[in-house]
Amino acid sequence: MRIVVTGGAGDLGSRVVRRLEAGGHQAVSASRRSGVDLATGAGLDAALVGADAVVHCADDPSQQDTVTVYGTRRLADAAAARGVHLVHISIVGIDDHPMAYYRRKLRAEQGIADAGGPASVLRATQFHSLAAFFARSLTKGPVTFTVGDMAFQPVDTDFVAARLAELATGPRPAAYQRARDLAGPEVLPLVELARLVRAHRGASAPRALHVPPVGRLLRAFAESRNVPAPGTADLGGHTFAEWLATQPPRLTGR
Ligand SMILES: NC(=O)c1ccc[n+]([C@@H]2O[C@H](COP(=O)([O-])OP(=O)(O)OC[C@H]3O[C@@H](n4cnc5c(N)ncnc54)[C@H](OP(=O)(O)O)[C@@H]3O)[C@@H](O)[C@H]2O)c1
Repeated sequence: MRIVVTGGAGDLGSRVVRRLEAGGHQAVSASRRSGVDLATGAGLDAALVGADAVVHCADDPSQQDTVTVYGTRRLADAAAARGVHLVHISIVGIDDHPMAYYRRKLRAEQGIADAGGPASVLRATQFHSLAAFFARSLTKGPVTFTVGDMAFQPVDTDFVAARLAELATGPRPAAYQRARDLAGPEVLPLVELARLVRAHRGASAPRALHVPPVGRLLRAFAESRNVPAPGTADLGGHTFAEWLATQPPRLTGR
């Protein structure tokens, strides 16, 4: 099959490309570096010619609505017009979450549904690298700042890429469908994540400092709304500790 991968040079997209190629498919990366700009639509129609499916991994949260919401809708309209199966990556727990990016991802899903073409939307939890970033950002010296039951169920990016590739090469749905949510094998309280990250570079366990969940955003994390309810997601992939063991002692990026 010929499958277009938007953001095919990015973290998730490059893994989808590798997965598809390993399965004997033709994967075509589409992003600005290959002349496709979702912010303007440049190169988009040409990229979809002859495609059986398009896996949408491109995003630029710094552009607010431009790529996340409008770029996704532009892609969904172009895919629907050609009857190309759109496979989209979204985030677990965004139905009722005040984080601005999560609200945009929800609007992106709605745009795909409104476009009316065959589409599969897969929601995944935070990738291991992002959970580690949160743990580092919320730890100052030996103190981790947390709220309520703040926790993550981080997932292995390769596990997510494999499911996206499966969806793209599987049967084309007749219309919009949500795939079963995807999450990693274990729920880790923020303080445990911070302990693992610090231990990885030889530092002592942090002390937890619970701050009051003031405001809608902190309340959402205090209530673990980013963690799937038991039994609602497919679980798998490497654990956070297994992923950490493959990383350099000093983590960078997200
Ligand atoms: N990180 C997580 O924990 C997590 C969890 C669940 C879901 N997700 C979702 O996973 C997706 C991919 O995340 P990622 O971390 O792999 O992203 P990433 O590494 O930042 O890659 C995004 C790619 O998008 C392309 N891009 C940016 N602006 C573009 C534009 N205007 N037109 C076309 N392409 C554009 C970029 O390539 P060029 O520079 O060549 O344009 C880049 O390679 C996102 O939708 C995110 O919401 C992430």
